[in-house]
This record gives sequence, C-alpha cells and structure tokens, in this order.
Amino acid sequence: MNKFFLDLGKQPLANNYLSIYKKKQTKYNLKLFFNTKNKTVSISKRIPSEKMFTNKYPYRSSMSKTMRNSFYKLSLEIKKKFNPKKILEIGSNDGALIKNFNKKIVIGVEPCNNLAKITSRKGYLTYNKYWNFNLAKKIRKKNGKIDLLYSANTLTHISNLAEVFKSISYLLSNDGVLIIEDPSLLECIKKNSYDQFYNEHIYLFSAISVKNIINKFNFEIFHIKNLTTHGGSLRYYIKKKNNKKLKISRSVHKQISKEIKYGLHKFKTYTKFSTNVQKSKRNLLKILNKLKKNNKKIIGYGATAKAVTIINYCNINKDLISNFVDVTPEKINKFMPGKDIKILNYDRNILKKYDFAFLGAWNFRNEIFNKEKKFLKRGGKFIIHVPFPKIIK
Ligand code: TMP
Repeated sequence: MNKFFLDLGKQPLANNYLSIYKKKQTKYNLKLFFNTKNKTVSISKRIPSEKMFTNKYPYRSSMSKTMRNSFYKLSLEIKKKFNPKKILEIGSNDGALIKNFNKKIVIGVEPCNNLAKITSRKGYLTYNKYWNFNLAKKIRKKNGKIDLLYSANTLTHISNLAEVFKSISYLLSNDGVLIIEDPSLLECIKKNSYDQFYNEHIYLFSAISVKNIINKFNFEIFHIKNLTTHGGSLRYYIKKKNNKKLKISRSVHKQISKEIKYGLHKFKTYTKFSTNVQKSKRNLLKILNKLKKNNKKIIGYGATAKAVTIINYCNINKDLISNFVDVTPEKINKFMPGKDIKILNYDRNILKKYDFAFLGAWNFRNEIFNKEKKFLKRGGKFIIHVPFPKIIK
C-alpha cells in the first residue's frame, strides 16, 4: 500500500532548460508516497521516459571532478576485485565510467542520443536504447552473458523495476556481479534534502527496499558501500542467490540495522520528514527575503535538477536569485525550468558581481569551496539548505 506524505507542488520537467522563458510551462504534481510493503519511497506521477530522456538531455556525469574521480576509483576496484571479461553499464551517460575500461570489454546502454553519440564516437560500443528485456535479449545474442553489470543513478529513473531486474537476471552470468548506486534514502531523510525528488527520480532506495525489491528476482546484496557522491549514496554489490562463491559481508547487516534504527521502515518517519521540509522552505525564504531587503545580490551555484525542485517548491523567482551559473554547455544561456532565472556561463570572475551564492550543487560543496576561495576571501558567502537553511561564513 502506498501512503502519501509530502506534496512538493507543481514541478516542470527537471531537465527541460528552455532557451526562451515561457510563463506557461507544463507542470506535474510532485507527491511523495511510502510503500508500506517493500519500504520504498516513490513519486506518484510517472512521466513517459521519452519526454524526459530526449536527444538534448543536459546532464553530463563528467562535468565534476568529484564524479570523474569516483568512477575512476570504482574502475580500479572492479578490475582488481572482479576482473570481468565483459562489463555493461546501464545509463552510461557521457562515458564517465566506461572510458576507464578497454573498449573491447565494455558496453554502454544510453537512451539519450546526444550522450550515446559521445561514447560511440570514441569507439565504445553503445546501445542508444532504453534498458528492457528486448534489449537484454539482443545483447546476450550478440555478446553472450555479461559478468559485470553496473548502473549508477539510473534504475531510480525507471518505473518498471520488475522488467529492469528480469532483464538483468537474463543477461548476467550465474557467478556475475551487479553493482548499482543511487542516492541513499537514509541520507536524504537525515539531511532533509527533499531536492533529491524530481520527476525523473521515481524511486529513492534504501538497503531495506533494495533487498525487498530484488528478492523476487533471486538476487541478494552481498556488500554495501557508503559514498559521499550525490549528497550521500549507497553502492550495492549484488549477486544471484545460487552463487555461493561470494560471501555476504557484515556491511549489509550494518546498513540495514542503521536504517531500522532511524525508522526508515516506519511511516511516521516520513510524516516527520514532511514537517521538516515545510519548515525548511519557510526558513530558506526568510533568509533570501532578508538579503533582498538589504540589497544583496544572490546567484545560484550549479543549475541542478535538485535546484529546480527547490525554486519551484519555494516559489523562488529572479527577484530573490537573479541568475544561476553552471559549467555544463547544454545549460548555459537557458532558463531554470519553471522560472525566469537565466543560467550564466561559468567564468572565474563571475562571482565578483554577487554577495551570496546559493548552493544548487550542494553535493559538490567541497569541490566548489576549493574552487571559490577568492569569493570566500573577499567576504562572499554561500547559502545552503541542508540539513537546514543557513548562511555559511
Ligand atoms: P548534479 O548535482 O545533478 O550532479 O549536478 C551538478 C551540476 O552542477 C552540473 O550541472 C554541473 C554543475 N557544477 C558547476 O557548475 N560547477 C562545479 O564546480 C560543479 C562541481 C558542478
């Protein structure tokens, strides 16, 4: 049974950055529900994938040093621990992970044509397709079974999880390993980072919920790693149940116990979260309005999909945050979805004109603070909303 706990209002497509601002944009309800059976949190309104993952999809995994490093480190670990003969990545984006492997052993699957082109042009076999059973059949026929399947920040975007895991089970060899990583529900609740929810993020997983979801498909988690990426993620190492060669590590029990202790299996945890989110909205607006009254200039740093949730939920317009800045070519000179706030191209001097920077990309806080030492030195300040809205001095 799905129980409602939070309404984040009407939201535009999170990655639909428009060249010309339109007052009337299609918006969808963003309501959050807790599944009392499998303990997964999900959004109710499912938008057809074709509307979101277009041939102009602007999100590029390679745009931050943090993510490039994370994928590089993972590639070393995969080579050392599992030494796979064939690797397949579901949602290979612009190749941030696969570029670390020999072209002969790695396959990408990426539905966004503009991104798939980037890796196929570089000689990586890339299927410009959605992940489903037909594709798994096609790949198995051509390449045989795969011994390492990986997917980061992608499975939470696919509505039909039964098809996802059925297809993975069909393609993965019996002693193969599936690694998935996604934002952690525990970290989201702890940090009050409600901006993890936008229309592409259909689910937010916990170890408890992944265990419940994959159980039906004869999979089990054998190891879990906590990551700092994307505001706190979990990397799940998964195997087929009949593979007895891989032992289940203590990390699995440890994570699940931590989640139970925090109450992730109980509905009342989510009603409390909902109250905290509403408070967060009030307090962020209080800060921004006070700065506006004092004629301070504020820019948004990182035109993230997360920031789209915030500005639309809190109804922040350009009188409060005059512009955003971002390094992604696909976002520059476009408008923040749902709002008349223009995204400017990042250059070293851009922050000179502003007193405050609202951290849209708060998940890259350390990387950004390192980069913006000058801004901080001359008295510039960042505003962050996690775990509660505040000015960082
Ligand atoms: P994400 O939080 O969804 O991964 O998106 C991060 C966005 O922030 C992406 O558009 C790139 C942008 N960004 C910058 O503009 N400058 C930076 O220094 C970093 C780390 C990210």
